[in-house]
Amino acid sequence: MDLQGQWTALLPAARAALLDVVDSGRFILGPQVAAFEQEAAAALGVAHAVGVANGTEALVLALRAVGVVPGDEVICPAFTFYATAEAIAAVGATPVFADIRVGDYCLDPAAVEAAVTSRTRAVVPVHLFGHPADISALRAVCDRHGLALVEDAAQAFGAAGVALRGDVSTYSFFPTKNLATFGDGGLIVTSREDVAETSRTLRFHGSRDKQTFTQVGYNSRLDELHAAVLRVFLPAVAGWNTARTAAAERYRALGLGEVVGLPPDGGVYHLYVVRTSSRAAVADACRAAGVATGVYYATPLHRQPVFARLPPRDLPVTDAAADQCLALPMFPTISEAQQVAVVAAVTGVLAPA
Ligand SMILES: Cc1ncc(COP(=O)(O)O)c(C=O)c1O
Repeated sequence: MDLQGQWTALLPAARAALLDVVDSGRFILGPQVAAFEQEAAAALGVAHAVGVANGTEALVLALRAVGVVPGDEVICPAFTFYATAEAIAAVGATPVFADIRVGDYCLDPAAVEAAVTSRTRAVVPVHLFGHPADISALRAVCDRHGLALVEDAAQAFGAAGVALRGDVSTYSFFPTKNLATFGDGGLIVTSREDVAETSRTLRFHGSRDKQTFTQVGYNSRLDELHAAVLRVFLPAVAGWNTARTAAAERYRALGLGEVVGLPPDGGVYHLYVVRTSSRAAVADACRAAGVATGVYYATPLHRQPVFARLPPRDLPVTDAAADQCLALPMFPTISEAQQVAVVAAVTGVLAPA
């Protein structure tokens, strides 16, 4: 990743916006947060947006806002960042891991349906690596069983079809995300007035007026400094996502698909994750060529020590993905020469299939 590269042209505006906040003396829930919430809701095509401290707490608050309570079960993938299931456990519910689809690494609607019990309250698909999960099919499962649909869109800001059909969706603005700030930030978006209202209350200690406290909530607010930066970056995200898509097309045109499995088409390529049974050899060859790689996610959540107390789940597609996936360089300003070097390193160790 090259964070600074994509930001270069906007850094003067971002610095000025930060100084404006300092000079304004308004730091918590002021005009920047209110404006960013409106602008983000408009960009995403949803009615309400609620800025919060990070993507993990966005999930915690969203789960509570749709009525998840201790003792409930919530179905989610095991092939995701830990925060997805951590948030479910944090509200006292039990994560129930369902398998993913081979093609897009997102929840398999049939596996979700098979995991529903009388205690299931919600389903949390993750739009993994920026690829939209099959929300139409997941919505149908939720409607059949009366479940809430909570979309973890942390990795998919700007992806088409995301955050429109769930009861609520959540984003992270961690510095590496497609829309990011200079630190931590998060967002809850929803078209449900009741969910937006509960989220606003929960982020502020369970209060709407600082005088009367109706719930045990959180101190989980997006602050004015981050909102000001996000307002500078928000108009650029669509262009950055287009550049990521063009880079993905270039990897294909350079012949990468002849030696490794390519990511699915579509989405916003938060990460560019290929598939190979020779992952260690490819990673070594890349390192030798000065090309960074990353493994997302080596140990799926059903195998993490923290969840050893849960009943064992058989998730063969998840396990295979965890063994074979490797992220190659992907960022909006990646150059053709950089991509040629990546493809040369990968094809150099792997004979064409
Ligand atoms: C899928 C997913 N969910 C949730 C999170 C949590 O977001 P944050 O780091 O802002 O708490 C992340 C990213 O870190 C993520 O990738």
